Amino acid sequence: MTEPLPLTQNALRPGVIELAYGEPDPALLPVDLVESAAARVLRELGPGAIAYGTRSGPLGLRRAIATRIAAREGREVAETGVYVSGGSSQALDLILTVFTGPGDVVLVETPTYNLALGTMRDHPVEIIGVALDGEGLVAAALEATLARLRSAGKHARLLYTIPTFHNPTGTCLEGERRGRLLALAAHHDLLIVEDDVYRELAYDEAAPQALWAADPAAPVIRLGSFSKSLAPGLRVGWVNARPDLLARLDAAGVLDSGGGVSHFAACVVALALTSGGYDAHVSRLRRAYASRRDALGGALRAHLPAGSSFAAPAGGFFIWVKLPGGVRAAELLPAAEEHGVSFAPGRGFCSDGDDGHLRLSFSLYDEERLAEGARRLGAALRAHARRPR
Ligand SMILES: Cc1ncc(COP(=O)(O)O)c(C=O)c1O
Repeated sequence: MTEPLPLTQNALRPGVIELAYGEPDPALLPVDLVESAAARVLRELGPGAIAYGTRSGPLGLRRAIATRIAAREGREVAETGVYVSGGSSQALDLILTVFTGPGDVVLVETPTYNLALGTMRDHPVEIIGVALDGEGLVAAALEATLARLRSAGKHARLLYTIPTFHNPTGTCLEGERRGRLLALAAHHDLLIVEDDVYRELAYDEAAPQALWAADPAAPVIRLGSFSKSLAPGLRVGWVNARPDLLARLDAAGVLDSGGGVSHFAACVVALALTSGGYDAHVSRLRRAYASRRDALGGALRAHLPAGSSFAAPAGGFFIWVKLPGGVRAAELLPAAEEHGVSFAPGRGFCSDGDDGHLRLSFSLYDEERLAEGARRLGAALRAHARRPR
């Protein structure tokens, strides 16, 4: 028999509880919903569903997203105020292409989403970190960085931020800081890229208002995604921004050549939204992931040694664990994997290389496996502390 071709990005190793991957549990991916929506799209749209698509995405999806935003976020947006992307990642790459040039400064939170750093490194920009604490990006640190850059004759072009259910820390940017951030951006001609992919996965109360939604005139580009709330393999997300900013994305050469990205999948997502299937699915996900968060948080409290700490997040996929003094996450990883558990070391998320934290994801396993993962991590930390030096 021939081996099956590799199909998915991250292979799970037998015997290892993989808490490094921030992706939906395959058991929670809505195969039936996507199957019925895809069949209906082909039946109803025929060849138009698989021809080159319009540059900014199918109008049906742009309209469905605009309707959902008005209902859930209280912000009226025209369907032309939505650009359909190939997920948040493609949108970030396109934004960097369109809005930055060689040597431009891009600001990020420290820590930030590790793979966004990879996308940025594909562009000839200088990445500079700004501190983040338990209430999100530290506005005073941003202000000081902007002033320092200005006195060095440099201009920060863009800030990439995850103000809602941050990856990796799970924090939400505190309300007053949101206002200060918007004021600083306006004052310093700074474009804010608001990565908002976890908005739907709010477990305790509604997610805070998006930066983009707070002020229609603000220089904010908000990135939404169906990767976490529906299915990442569809590669469908969207962008909201002021018309002048969207017009610049819409003029990108790549859209001349290929038309709108993920056209067929975007038509499928439109149908999932308008049929009500998406809403029912998201409600299911919220219940499932909230219970997993509680299971992992509870087990970590029981098993982590003194000196470790974390704050359980109100949404998203992640718990960011501060390790006992002196323990470096990358050095702990081999011991953890010997104990049958894995995690993402903190240094991959920190533009300054700090490695005193690790990131655990509670999205991929059920409650029982998560609790076992926490037990193994605690055992690995104790074994690591006993090792000869
Ligand atoms: C903060 C953040 N942004 C973007 C992504 C990727 O999103 P997409 O699949 O829409 O490209 C992830 C996935 O882990 C993420 O955590």
